[in-house]
Amino acid sequence: MSTITAVNRLALLGGQKSFSLDAPDLFHWPIVTQDDEAAVVAVLRQGKMSGTDITKEFEKEWAVFNQTKYALGTCNGTAAIQAAMWACGVGAGDEIIAPSMTYWASAAPALMLGATVNFADIDRDTLCIDPNDIEQRIGPRTKAIVVVHYTGHPCEMDSIMAIARKHNVKVIEDVSHAHGSLYKGRKVGSIGDIGPMSMMGGKGFAVGEAGMIVTNNQELYERCIAFGHYERTGVASNYNPADPQITLPELKPYIGLPLGGCKQRMNQTCSAFGRSQLKRYPERLKIIQSAMNRFWDLLDGVPGLKAHRPPHGSGSTMGCWYAAAGCYRPEQLGGLACAKFAEAVRAEGVENCWPAGNRPLHVHPYFHTADIFHHGKPTAIAFGQRDVRQGAGALPVAESINQICIRIPWFKHDRVKEIKLYADAYRKVAENADQLL
Ligand SMILES: Cc1ncc(COP(=O)(O)O)c(C=O)c1O
Repeated sequence: MSTITAVNRLALLGGQKSFSLDAPDLFHWPIVTQDDEAAVVAVLRQGKMSGTDITKEFEKEWAVFNQTKYALGTCNGTAAIQAAMWACGVGAGDEIIAPSMTYWASAAPALMLGATVNFADIDRDTLCIDPNDIEQRIGPRTKAIVVVHYTGHPCEMDSIMAIARKHNVKVIEDVSHAHGSLYKGRKVGSIGDIGPMSMMGGKGFAVGEAGMIVTNNQELYERCIAFGHYERTGVASNYNPADPQITLPELKPYIGLPLGGCKQRMNQTCSAFGRSQLKRYPERLKIIQSAMNRFWDLLDGVPGLKAHRPPHGSGSTMGCWYAAAGCYRPEQLGGLACAKFAEAVRAEGVENCWPAGNRPLHVHPYFHTADIFHHGKPTAIAFGQRDVRQGAGALPVAESINQICIRIPWFKHDRVKEIKLYADAYRKVAENADQLL
């Protein structure tokens, strides 16, 4: 036990606060310039909100950025995921595999397609789907594995793709946390079969209620168009004769109406803002990466904390570090609860430090009892799906998320002095954690 002095006494126990800083722009996002504003106003003035011409330009530019052949804008990320699932053949009676630790939209649309979700656990270091917990879940009706690059950390794609190819199952990369993240030098979203993503206002690439689907597979691209973009199905649709033709014979009879029964087009105020944002995004990514790596380098070797990032030199990156979080290791701090640690960090002057992570999905009643289609039984089994529902205790890592994952500052500027103040606050609590036991 260290001796308590005036310098190391934790602020939570009456010691001096580490720092006090009023720098809201350090975290403000997205950064909006006059060019961004002008791009949005132009859409409004021209009355082009519901058109597709600006969205198509945005799609071309996003496809280049994301290193894919095709990109298709959508009204939000949830719609993008549902369209991607449908395109991959997910339907009544089928299964998908998805990590339990993610936002609900990575998995919930499967039930709207009459399928069910076999949830897998996550890896304690990457916080992404555990590749060792996938293969045993594959059954005859498994159509897709959804992987989520959680808070920007790329999933272990080599192992995942090998399993998927072996069993002839599609891989859907949910890129909503990871715009611009690299896996061994390749942009995430370009590695699996299809990459739907959210671009809502709180994301790393944030343009409002919007989403995007990327793929190199023409068939999947056409199916996503057919699902939610009736106005883009070519000459026979009578809308935009210049649009590429749908070539898949099974889709042709339905040209002109969306097979998903919903309109999924992106609002062009979002696409115009997105085009403008994308011009500066690569540069901003570099700044954020430098700032976040600086923070973690300062904490290297500090007990109880482990950087949530791929190994240096692996060619993999965290993209823009969406909703930045760190790995917390209570066993290195005498079992100190993450919530108590976070409370002590807040007392040192870091406003937004809390246990982090989503609520594990496999125990949510939506996936157990919800009767969405009024069948008189849970939708998770109402279409003849295999009953793969799992209760508490089934996925221990996902269920322990609040004890192993902690919020860290998500810096948008690389300011050496300020970042050190934040890192020092975490270090002070970690190195004096015994005061809290
Ligand atoms: C991992 C993940 N997938 C999907 C979504 C859904 O996207 P949207 O909110 O744009 O519908 C979100 C967040 O919003 C998300 O965090």
